[in-house]
Amino acid sequence: MSFSSMEHSSVLGVRLSLKQRYFLLILIAAAVIITYQFSRSHPEVVRMHRVEGLRADSSQFTLEKRPLRILGGSVHYFRVPRAYWEDRLLKMKACGLNTLTTYVPWNLHEPERGRFDFEDQLDLEAYLRLAASLGLWVILRPGPYICAEWDLGGLPSWLLRDEKMKLRTTYSGFTDAASSFFDQLIRRVVPLQYSQGGPIIAVQVENEYGSYAEDDKYMPFIKEALLSRGITELLLTSDNRNGLKLGAVKGALETLNFQKLDLDVIKYLDEIQPQKPKMVMEYWSGWFDLWGGLHHVYTSEDMIPVVTEILKLDLSINLYMFHGGTNFGFMNGALAVGIPAPKPVITSYDYDAPLSEAGDYTTKYHLLRNLFSRYHTQPLPELPALREKRAYLPVIIQQHLSLWNSLHLTQKPLKSEKPLNMENLPVNNNNGQSYGYTLYETTITGGGLLNSKNNIKDRALVFVDKQFVGVLDYNVQELAVPDGKGRRTLSFLVENCGRVNYGKTLDEQRKGLVGDIELNAHVLRGFTIHSLEMKPSFVNRLETSGHWASVPQRPSFPAFFLARLYVNSSPKDTFIKLPGWSKGVVFLNGKNLGRYWSVGPQQTLYVPGPWLHRGDNQVIVFEEQETDGKIQFTSSPDYGMTVDVQ
Ligand code: GLA
Repeated sequence: MSFSSMEHSSVLGVRLSLKQRYFLLILIAAAVIITYQFSRSHPEVVRMHRVEGLRADSSQFTLEKRPLRILGGSVHYFRVPRAYWEDRLLKMKACGLNTLTTYVPWNLHEPERGRFDFEDQLDLEAYLRLAASLGLWVILRPGPYICAEWDLGGLPSWLLRDEKMKLRTTYSGFTDAASSFFDQLIRRVVPLQYSQGGPIIAVQVENEYGSYAEDDKYMPFIKEALLSRGITELLLTSDNRNGLKLGAVKGALETLNFQKLDLDVIKYLDEIQPQKPKMVMEYWSGWFDLWGGLHHVYTSEDMIPVVTEILKLDLSINLYMFHGGTNFGFMNGALAVGIPAPKPVITSYDYDAPLSEAGDYTTKYHLLRNLFSRYHTQPLPELPALREKRAYLPVIIQQHLSLWNSLHLTQKPLKSEKPLNMENLPVNNNNGQSYGYTLYETTITGGGLLNSKNNIKDRALVFVDKQFVGVLDYNVQELAVPDGKGRRTLSFLVENCGRVNYGKTLDEQRKGLVGDIELNAHVLRGFTIHSLEMKPSFVNRLETSGHWASVPQRPSFPAFFLARLYVNSSPKDTFIKLPGWSKGVVFLNGKNLGRYWSVGPQQTLYVPGPWLHRGDNQVIVFEEQETDGKIQFTSSPDYGMTVDVQ
């Protein structure tokens, strides 16, 4: 064919000149490129027409019309150092689970009203993308209340500045705040929904609202808050036996929470929700511990038969927790057991879960893996390698800085005639103090009987002219103050030991001095108040302060104690042990590892290897009452005396 004979040829019967053909070619190429680019930047649009996410239209879940049994596990990104997210999720995958469930803690993401944090350890999107990259689906539990043994069930303490606050209701002070949090949160997770190419197959509406049930407009409000912001995947609610009746909201699938096999409740669910898939959203793989109590153990002999049965009954399951992790910092919640004394949750959230606090395999893990493998057609991935643990040699405390000498490193103290609770202190851009300790000081001119009127939340060390005179708490509300001459300073170092996270007393969780204290039946007035939240900025100032001195023979308390741990090879996980100390907090390279307390049960604090570095590591211990002058390390945890979960 000569070139000239090609000058005119026909396309679909239409004769086109060479120019016209070139033009057509360019048009087609442009259309292909534009379509390709669009499909890359808007995968959701393309996918929406292709995929059908999780459905609960019959007795089995379906995903893309194919039956799916959810084998889930809870791992909270905020309880696991970011450097270990992948390790824990790989171990989850290797156990045969196909779905990750996580709560979202509002109080960490919005530490001050209107100031949001979704970075680093709180980079939820990165966590969800990681799950996706490992082939895990996600059930998101965004609260805004999450319970979870987390301070105030995840609600920010600044909500309690409003004295009329009604948490978890449609009180506008609550719904406005929750809405503005959801504005930030939901837009981040919307693109990570299944229909948009992401891993999120379902979203939970609130948490066990049936056990609270203070406002019947509340659940519809939360549901709408999710839908109106673009949540399109399956909605769920999750309730325990007692809450199932009142926890439902139209349009959301009800799921169950339990530990011992509860056939009655499964039957009941079937009655109220026939022809729907059934799921145990929280199958409690262990339990949490309280300071002063015992370490809960739920044996594999008890657990595995129940899980086996749940699967035989064709239910879906989520292990709460698959891996508990740690309540780093001051973030633990408390259990309201009996009035008036709530019991704070310990630092470890090991939970006796299949994967231990430090990411080690347990007997439960291996047995579950064996069980779950039967529900897969492909062999499960190999077990990821364990992280080495190291018992570093003990380090000697080198320096000491008394609490009184550190006060100038805190924010300027506040003067107030009456005591002010933590949440109402004019600190943190008027968001109040959320966590830690507050020092209240006033002047007295004589001794006598102090009466706390139960206004100390939760526990105070009491001093006269810096001399310790005793402890006031829920159980001890009176204390003798020795006589003395002249004007003396009476100090209360009040600790928020963790706000209650479950039950009907959420609105009453203000901390610090929440009312008047009396001395000889006269109310104390004229306070100077130091907020001692011990945030990283304070710990940094502390580290570089010129006020450290070598440890005296008889150091004063409370005080900060400084030691250096020299690591000469690549850092490994370890556990800190403080047998000769009584109660306090440990900071490692500025990070708050959490509280320790000799009352146990927990005897060791988890130190993740990635938070150590080669060379000198700075350990600062804030101790309330006594020290033996050294910090010990061990390669395995000690959670104390055990008790079987009842
Ligand atoms: C409930 C809550 C969880 C957690 C467990 C106990 O089921 O929903 O957040 O508090 O109890 O660990």
